[in-house]
Amino acid sequence: TAHRAGVALDTLVRVQQDFPIPGVLFRDLTAVLANAPALADVADALAWAEADVDLIAGIEARGFLLGAAAAVRRGLGVVAVRKPGKLPGAVLAEDYALEYGRGRLEMHPDDVPAGARVLIIDDVLATGGTAAAACRLIRRAGGIVAGISVAVELPALGGRAATGEVPLHALRAW
Ligand code: PRP
Repeated sequence: TAHRAGVALDTLVRVQQDFPIPGVLFRDLTAVLANAPALADVADALAWAEADVDLIAGIEARGFLLGAAAAVRRGLGVVAVRKPGKLPGAVLAEDYALEYGRGRLEMHPDDVPAGARVLIIDDVLATGGTAAAACRLIRRAGGIVAGISVAVELPALGGRAATGEVPLHALRAW
C-alpha cells in the first residue's frame, strides 16, 4: 500500500509554478483525491498503521480531505484544525508563519479527549509552521501529538526541524 501510494503521488500530483503567488511551486493533489484507488492507497498510508493513535487531526483545507479519509480507514474520528473564524464554539488559537504570509489556526479543545494520542494529517509539509501550530493546539487542549503524517515533504524548506521531536511520516520527499 505504501508503495502504491507513492506511485499514485508520483503520477497524479500536478506541479504548478507561481501559484498562489509568484515564486511558489504548488503541489496540487486534486487528481489524487479524484482517483478512487489512489485515494484509498494514500489514505491508508497516511493513517500510519504502526503508530499508536486515538484521533486524527485534519488541517484546513486539504488536510480535511486526506485526514477524514485516513480516519475512516483506521476507524478513528477526526478533529478539525481550522482557519480563523470558522468554528462556532470556544476555540484555542495559534499564529504561525507560512511559506507565503502569516496564518492562524483554531480548534475546539473539547473535541480532543484528555490524553488522546493525536496524529496530524496534511497534504504538504513545507516550512512546518502550519504543523507546528497544530501541535501546539493539540497539546494546549490536553492531547499528545503522536505524529505528523503528510503526503509530501519539501525537505529544502526545513519542516522536519520546525516540528521538533514529533515523529514525521512523509509518503514522498520532493
Ligand atoms: C498549505 C498546505 C499546508 C501548509 C504547509 O496550506 O496545505 O497546510 O500550506 O506549509 P508550511 O509547512 O510552510 O506551514 P495553505 O496554508 O496554503 O492553506 P489551504 O490548504 O487552506 O490552501
